[in-house]
Amino acid sequence: MEKVMDKLVALCKRRGYVFPSSEIYGGINACWDYGPLGVRLKNNVKRLWWRSMTQLRDDIEGLDAAILMHPQVWVASGHVENFTDPLVDCRECKARFRADEMGVDPTDPNTPCPRCGNRGTLTKPRLFNLMFKTFMGPVEEDSAVIYLRPETAQGIYLNFENVRTSSRQKIPFGIAQIGKAFRNEITPGNFIFRTREFEQMEMQFFIRPGTDPEWLEHWRDERVRWYLEEIGLRSEKVRVHEHAPDELAHYAKAAYDVEYEFPFGWKELEGIHNRTDFDLSRHQEHSGKKMEYFDDETKQRYVPYIVETSAGCDRTVLTALVDAYREEEVEGEARVLLSLNPSLAPIHAGIFPLVKRDGMPEIAERITGELKDRFYVFYDEAGSIGKRYRRMDEAGTPFCVTVDSETLQNESVTVRNRDSLDQERIAIRDLGDWLGERVRT
Ligand code: GAP
Repeated sequence: MEKVMDKLVALCKRRGYVFPSSEIYGGINACWDYGPLGVRLKNNVKRLWWRSMTQLRDDIEGLDAAILMHPQVWVASGHVENFTDPLVDCRECKARFRADEMGVDPTDPNTPCPRCGNRGTLTKPRLFNLMFKTFMGPVEEDSAVIYLRPETAQGIYLNFENVRTSSRQKIPFGIAQIGKAFRNEITPGNFIFRTREFEQMEMQFFIRPGTDPEWLEHWRDERVRWYLEEIGLRSEKVRVHEHAPDELAHYAKAAYDVEYEFPFGWKELEGIHNRTDFDLSRHQEHSGKKMEYFDDETKQRYVPYIVETSAGCDRTVLTALVDAYREEEVEGEARVLLSLNPSLAPIHAGIFPLVKRDGMPEIAERITGELKDRFYVFYDEAGSIGKRYRRMDEAGTPFCVTVDSETLQNESVTVRNRDSLDQERIAIRDLGDWLGERVRT
């Protein structure tokens, strides 16, 4: 099963989805760059999320807050004190583990190191803060320390009042944000699953205390629906895990994870948390600024509760790729394809002249030009038609349009479906609408 990941990593490099960062210097651990196709896939994921959270809803507003924030934010949020992982080192082989993920008791002197098998070589767990620190301004002293944000959520809390008053929203309402977050993870890995720099798509929903259990379930169900219907994941690969009390983050009263079955096991894809009034109360306390809301309907004044949906953008990209990866045999020939949901695909249609003569390239170029405004299309005349199909299969392109001799007679083209391999004839003038019905751009 792990081999699938190796093949996917190789495909991502070959086709321009994801490259190792700083590759010419030997790479840097757990950092990745998105290539021409990868950046489009990632933007499509973000677009679908933003659309479902903000464009289609009247009760959620967008925000893009700064990554660098006042250092007191992270004291108030509890991250300086609590955002830690227990770290265990092996003195012998120098391997490093997260104590909570070892599956064995590292404090027992008889526990062997999971890597080298030696006993008595594991250190006691030490708490390690995951926030990246840097300095603001030219002087590197304690008073100049600031942090790279480990979650985007805090920028939303600090702007709660700004957004509420400027948009005239009333509770219940939400604020959505997409942006980079940074964590100095102890055990990054599994390609882009766990990295030290990543993007989150977070939405904080502000509600009346007491309505939180209901909203938590609402958002759990809505987020599962999004992964199934909009990202197009296979339903048998998606499940929900409810946090036991000892799994809860320091800010959460209750939480669900949306999980996906990766080749390396069932893992978290998104967290949905009942954060109560923890965050706004803490910021009220530390900043001295009121974070209360007056509810016109109930005539109550209260600090709002928050239900948060916190998705990883890179993790969603990985999930879409893993879910779409297929190896098949067609007429005795192996083919690899990415069966991506057409609305996610980086190229919506490949446009090919069957041969490089009889005016076919000119017609194919004309079609490419006409479709470009609405879709990502890719003109290709290099190699046999079979090779061109295979390249598009690996790139995840759902449709290939071929200009052939019949086109010269009646201005129609062949459209091949990536998944079913069915071919149908479509009039060139209908092609835009035909694609538009199958791809949401
Ligand atoms: N604001 C709450 C929060 O940040 P989280 O469960 O720590 O909650 C939410 O993170 C999501 O962010 C995760 O479900 C995952 O998709 C993504 N994420 C977290 N750490 C990550 C990492 N090191 N690399 C990639 N994605 C990560």
